[in-house]
Amino acid sequence: MIIAIDGPTASGKGTVARRLAAHYGLPCLDTGLLYRGVAARLIREGDAPGDEDAAERAARSLKLKGMDESELRSARAGAAASVVAAMPRVRAALKDLQRDFAAQEGGAVLDGRDIGTVICPDADVKIWVDADPAERARRRHAELEGRGEDISYEEVLAQLRERDERDSGRPDAPMKRASDAHLLDTSKMSIDAAFEEARRIVDQVMAQRRA
Ligand code: DC
Repeated sequence: MIIAIDGPTASGKGTVARRLAAHYGLPCLDTGLLYRGVAARLIREGDAPGDEDAAERAARSLKLKGMDESELRSARAGAAASVVAAMPRVRAALKDLQRDFAAQEGGAVLDGRDIGTVICPDADVKIWVDADPAERARRRHAELEGRGEDISYEEVLAQLRERDERDSGRPDAPMKRASDAHLLDTSKMSIDAAFEEARRIVDQVMAQRRA
């Protein structure tokens, strides 16, 4: 079973994906980490975030194993990730890695922006996870504060809106709800409630398929 989870930053999609993967015993790939990994490499090596040649090289040599998640989760890596994610050559370089992950025996859960539309258009279940921008900014701000980053709520909200615009406005694989994706609005939901609703959607879709 392949489960595709898409949605904007801090919508809760990562948590929902991880919880679903644990529940169904499937491997899980947070595809945002790939773009963050490319961006972090550019930052580390002093390359400009807009250098597409360097970004493509970084994407082609990216390995899933050994990525340092705490470095990749910073606001700086996130903002730079959104820039490299708009580059068609970077997206092309990361496509096979994601498709190979999805093709594992037994299936997988992948979360990102274009999983249901581009990476796994034939996924068994697609869920679009969303929430109000103000609520997403509140969550992201709490997460960054917890990591010791000194950033105001207003700044987080402004960055989030900028990132949404860049992710949904790019011509190549824009962030978009697939026409057959189920909507999960987590604005007023706890993590447990969001997971329960996602599980209900998956079970319902799979039961309908078997019927
Ligand atoms: O989900 P995230 O915040 O870790 O993603 C970081 C950036 O990578 C985000 O701005 C959008 C981009 N991204 C993408 O374009 N496609 C994906 N499948 C996953 C992430």
